[in-house]
Amino acid sequence: MDFQRRTNKRLYEEHVATLQLLARVERVFTGRAGAYPPAAEDTEWPAFARTLRSAIEIEVARHFEFEERDLFPRLEEAGDGDLAALLNEEHVTIRAVSQPLAGLLGRTLAGGLQTQEWQTMKTLALEFSERLGSHAQKEDGALLPLLENLLDEDTDRELFGAYAAG
Ligand SMILES: [Fe+2]
Ligand SMILES: [Fe+2]
Repeated sequence: MDFQRRTNKRLYEEHVATLQLLARVERVFTGRAGAYPPAAEDTEWPAFARTLRSAIEIEVARHFEFEERDLFPRLEEAGDGDLAALLNEEHVTIRAVSQPLAGLLGRTLAGGLQTQEWQTMKTLALEFSERLGSHAQKEDGALLPLLENLLDEDTDRELFGAYAAG
């Protein structure tokens, strides 16, 4: 998708990266990328678990906070409060799954899990993937095109600058 506003381009690129990560999540947790639960000597698992945990705790968290703080209120002001409320509600349900998932990923790195916990983690991971994937696609189709009209050049520069600077 081709967006003019830098804020939109950035969010779109982050959605693309997210969808790529989720495709990997589905391969790993359904056993298509190797045995699941991983064998004790599986050297790829810790790297994957670290990547997924940091995506949840850093990249996705930052992206969500930016949308909630700087974008959804603008949508509301522009008369698209229903969409803002829906997207915000989806963030809440995604966090409800991603937070326990990050906790279990952290515990696999610190030691091991019980058989039942590996099953719980798989359920959480696949639900996380489904919810976040459809959320990102919804934002690509509805949020980003609206923002393209909503953000003027100065606002775009300001928002993008602040977001990029972290
Ligand atoms: Fe979002
Ligand atoms: Fe997003």
